[in-house]
Amino acid sequence: MTNLSVNINKVATIRNARGGNMPDLLKVAADCESFGVQGITVHPRPDERHVRYADVYALKPLVKTEFNIEGYPSDSFVDLVVKVKPTQVTLVPDAPDAITSNAGWDVKNHFDRLSELVDIFREKGIRTSLFIGTDAEQIEWAAKTGTDRVELYTEPYATLYSTGKEQAVAPFVEAARVAKNLGMGVNAGHDLSLENLAWFSRHIPFLEEVSIGHALICDALYYGLEKTISLYKACLEVKK
Ligand code: PXP
Repeated sequence: MTNLSVNINKVATIRNARGGNMPDLLKVAADCESFGVQGITVHPRPDERHVRYADVYALKPLVKTEFNIEGYPSDSFVDLVVKVKPTQVTLVPDAPDAITSNAGWDVKNHFDRLSELVDIFREKGIRTSLFIGTDAEQIEWAAKTGTDRVELYTEPYATLYSTGKEQAVAPFVEAARVAKNLGMGVNAGHDLSLENLAWFSRHIPFLEEVSIGHALICDALYYGLEKTISLYKACLEVKK
């Protein structure tokens, strides 16, 4: 069973566009949970243009499913995560001004810092996940940091999907196998959608979690949030 964690950053972006509290981020998170998601993901960025640090504190006591905080490990981010103590922290190498995450870690070149961070979070009882591409060497370096999981960066899969889904998924099947054999859990995220999710999920039977934001919130405009969540969950339940 693969867990669906909904990234609610886009909801905060809509709210921030007007300065009030519509849509209400906390209510959306609670509704996502009552509609059956297994996790809520937030990605606070340094400029707080999406989810704000204050939102993360407010969400913590409300989120009853798995709370995943993802982001670049600046000092302020690390401090936030340690204070909030989510279920999972996903470390992402994106620059502060990046529109969205656009690459996985070069773990080899950031090995000392990432290992130190994994230790800090483990000591607080927070599961760690490193956002990563499909390169086997990088996955081996990730395992050496002691991280519990990796999150595979699926944008290249999503881009190639329409031109050849077998070729698109193949490097991810192999990367997931390498990660699993090294004892890490496998998450995935970025550009997953109703179009490409079932195929991905079917090919990686031991996928622990997908984190999905942009496409899911866009789909909710047409189907509504409850129906959209059921459609995404159905993609994850396709026979493996
Ligand atoms: N995983 C990570 C690490 C991300 O940075 C993002 C985007 O914030 C996602 C998953 C979700 O990507 P999308 O919004 O394309 O579903």
